[in-house]
Formats: sequence, C-alpha cells, structure tokens
Amino acid sequence: MSVQQVNDKQRVALHAAARVQHDMIVGLGTGSTANYFIAELARKKREEGLNITTVASSVVSTRIAEQMGLDLVAIEHLSNIDLYVDGADEVSPQMALLKGRGSDLVREKLLAKASDQFFVLVDNSKLVERIGENYPIPIEVAPFCWQLVLKSVQQIGGEGMLRANGDGLAVSSHGSLILDMTFDVGINSQDLNDQLNAIPGIVEHGIFEQLATAIFIGENEQVTQQLK
Ligand code: 5RP
Repeated sequence: MSVQQVNDKQRVALHAAARVQHDMIVGLGTGSTANYFIAELARKKREEGLNITTVASSVVSTRIAEQMGLDLVAIEHLSNIDLYVDGADEVSPQMALLKGRGSDLVREKLLAKASDQFFVLVDNSKLVERIGENYPIPIEVAPFCWQLVLKSVQQIGGEGMLRANGDGLAVSSHGSLILDMTFDVGINSQDLNDQLNAIPGIVEHGIFEQLATAIFIGENEQVTQQLK
C-alpha cells in the first residue's frame, strides 16, 4: 500500500498493528477502522510470519478474520487477552468512549475489560467534548423487559426508542434489543455510566469509562496519541 493511498483510519490501524508482537492474544474490534487493523494483521501473518491468536468482538469481525486466514479462538476459552484494538464513535478528552453502532456491546466491553491493553483507533471526527454529543447512547436490553428498562432510563432523563433495522428491530448477536437514548447535555459520562450500570435488565451499554489504554488519532496524515 503506498503512503498516498492511506487514509486516516488506515493510518491508525497500521500504527496499532505495528505494536502487535509474536504470541499475543489479540482482540479484534468491529467497524471500518477495525477492519483495516484486521487486514493488516492478516498481511503481517502472511508476509512476515506474525504468530498470533485472535478473538473477535462480533459475528462480523469473526467472519472477516476467518476469511483473511487469522487464527481465532472463542471468547469462552479465554480469561485474559494481551491487546484489544477497536474503533469508537466518540472519544472525550478524559478518554471515555462511546461505542456500539455495531450493536455488539457485550462482547466489545468484555474484551476491553479483559485486555491488558486496549488501543482505540479514531480519526479526528470522533473527538468530542462530551459523550453523547453526536450520537445517542446505545443500550442493549433483554427483549422480555425492554419496556421496563425504557421506563427506568426515562426516569434518569433519557429519551429515545428501540433501534430499527429495515422494517424490523436491530438485534445483537446474543438476541438483545438496542435502545438508542439521548440525555441532557448537563450529565457527565461517568455519572451516566454508574446510573445505567444500576438498572436491571440492561445487558450492556455503549459508554466505556476508564477502559482505554491509548487513543490513536489519525489527523492530517499523522497519528497522535493520548495515553492513560
Ligand atoms: C462498533 C463500534 C465501532 O468501533 C464504531 O462504530 C466505529 O466504527 P468505524 O470504525 O466504522 O467508524 O463501536 O460497535
């Protein structure tokens, strides 16, 4: 790949892949940026003999990794991961993240929590002053209790509805439904994280607090980084 052809998302993906070492267990994220990372790992395996085991954060990234010839292990066989690399929808100055446009929040947060290092790959369009600035907060709910959860989330100031998918509803790979909820600009992500964690029936939500080790930001053909 020539330097001229590399966009900001690819650039951060290459930057992260250069930090992957032999014999690591590497968590694979979901989305267009994570796909560049997966492709680069596959290239390094093919051309440089990089020896790694990968674990995917979604059905989509499982399929892509399989097609590219990466060695995958199921999440249920692991208790520790060396490195997880994924994109994000928003990143705050305090390194809080908003994730979940891909609907698979449980696996993404499990990998982020279980990993020794979690690298987040973004371009500068993802940088925000506060979480929830550009996107609603995705909240994965058990289908049988979605209305009770919606009411609880409304009681803490949320507004929104179930995420649609065509004529139907978006469903995670575990069969959860997704609520997309907006909140008053006054509420900070840490408080919201705590409040959502306390609501029964929420399987997981898209605020990732205190989980990222490093944010790699692609901007003006450079990669800058923010470290924990
Ligand atoms: C999926 C995610 C993605 O990482 C996030 O949506 C960013 O996607 P992209 O790299 O395509 O901009 O959280 O659940």
